[in-house]
Amino acid sequence: MSTHIAAEPGQVAPIMLFPGDPLRAKWIAETFLEDAELYSQTRGMLGFTGTWEGHRVSVQGSGMGQPSMAIYANELMESYGVETIVRVGSCGALTERVALRDIIIANGASTDSAINRVRFHGLDYAPVADFGLLRAAVAASEAEPPASAVHVGPLFSSDQFYTTRAELTEPLVRHGVLGVEMETSGLYTLAAYYGRRALSICTVSDHLVTGAETTAHEREQTFGDMIRIALRAATS
Ligand code: HPA
Repeated sequence: MSTHIAAEPGQVAPIMLFPGDPLRAKWIAETFLEDAELYSQTRGMLGFTGTWEGHRVSVQGSGMGQPSMAIYANELMESYGVETIVRVGSCGALTERVALRDIIIANGASTDSAINRVRFHGLDYAPVADFGLLRAAVAASEAEPPASAVHVGPLFSSDQFYTTRAELTEPLVRHGVLGVEMETSGLYTLAAYYGRRALSICTVSDHLVTGAETTAHEREQTFGDMIRIALRAATS
């Protein structure tokens, strides 16, 4: 039992899928895991453990944004010994190099959050993905190509969904950033701190250049492709 997770030690698997939306966690557990059992619903942030191809796997909602995500990531690694965390989320595309429904495997993430600055006393730490997980996710997407394109590149983890700094998009894209979401930078930093493995995979749910958005049905379909890549990578 940790402060925000009501599981007993041992109820959480060392391999974790980590969507933002707790109902997405429920959908993943019901759709992909065998014998999935709910281990926590504190604050409605659902967590389940089941098996996938013989591997014990958990799936836990993180909430939106780095402060919420960090509460769960800290407790999962500190109190439950989670070794591998794969975020399965959505992001907005910042460039036409990326299309709606494409999948982005994040090799690193910049941020406007103060979380890393506070941690490093103003120094700009560079949060990066676990290379083994990244390589396994790329291999999984090549072995079983999803319907949409898969990109490997950096994300921008924003503290504000409703940005007040739209002028940041141009220099970010100029420096190779593909998409915007709200969690990856903090997740990579915390995994590095605990010496654990983390990777973030995001499906493009909305396009900030074209204004296009996916429907709920489309999101479910492409999310499925992303979950398969995440499960293969996390268990390899
Ligand atoms: N901005 C921030 N986070 C997001 C977005 C977005 O456009 N889409 C999905 N997560």
